[in-house]
Amino acid sequence: MMELRPDSAASWGGRPAEPGAVAPEPSEVRVKLSELPDGLAVRVEGGQHGICVARVGRDVYALVDRCSHQRWPLSDGEVSASDLTVECTKHGSTFSLRDGSPSCLPATRPVQVYQTRVEGDEVVVTVQ
Ligand code: FES
Repeated sequence: MMELRPDSAASWGGRPAEPGAVAPEPSEVRVKLSELPDGLAVRVEGGQHGICVARVGRDVYALVDRCSHQRWPLSDGEVSASDLTVECTKHGSTFSLRDGSPSCLPATRPVQVYQTRVEGDEVVVTVQ
């Protein structure tokens, strides 16, 4: 698993939520496009649980880096460019890169997906 640090000072990742805390405002995490190998998943710090960023050709997808089954990091998993999924290496569930939905057991709940856009040579992930 590759791990990248965000360039953005606006990142709020890694902080645990406190009881009664108000959800933070959306923030942006920036990653150099050149640091995202085509067809692989990369962990980027951001959000509450890290971000799994996957590049497939010219498209870049971002999901919470935590499987909905038993919280395994999805950035450890293999990306399928044909199915647009990432596989959890712990028990084999696959998740859509587009909407986070699981396509096979044991996971039954989707994972959160984040919006991405490319600005020049950077990918901007909007984390909510
Ligand atoms: S932890 Fe991901 S499928 Fe079980």
